[in-house]
Amino acid sequence: MEFGKVGQPSQDPRWRMVNATMRQHGNRSQALIETLHTVQETFGYLDEDALRYVASSLRVPFSRVFGVATFYHFFSLKPQGRHACIVCLGTACYIKGVPKIIAALKERYGVGPGETTPDGELSVLSARCLGACGLAPVAAVDSEIAAKLTPEAAIQRVEEVMSNAVH
Ligand code: FES
Repeated sequence: MEFGKVGQPSQDPRWRMVNATMRQHGNRSQALIETLHTVQETFGYLDEDALRYVASSLRVPFSRVFGVATFYHFFSLKPQGRHACIVCLGTACYIKGVPKIIAALKERYGVGPGETTPDGELSVLSARCLGACGLAPVAAVDSEIAAKLTPEAAIQRVEEVMSNAVH
């Protein structure tokens, strides 16, 4: 049955933000769109595991969650670029140097938050908090949170995922 409890997909700190959004709304179905926004913002897109977890946590049928995720144009079920770097624009990260990281990404790849390189290799996205403020400044590079970043380390991490990838 669709209401079987689905566990949090991973220990990624971004789930803290997702869980907080659901809690703020009493873990009720009214939280659905807001929660999907948080998943999209912090992970860059909505994958099936996330949709199943949200459905289970809010006790909403998966079919409805999937329907909402596909109905609204601001949700995407696939990553935009082949790789994603989601930089955190939250206060802790901002004051610890995120603007310099954004500038370095822009200089190296020619794209800023919300943009994807013309070859589709990299999307740079931004989030209000990735749930790892104690490790600021952070960015999520593909599936991993990169902590205490410098502009150089951010570029290096992005280069690593782009060169390791099997296309
Ligand atoms: S402010 Fe950046 S992780 Fe929370």
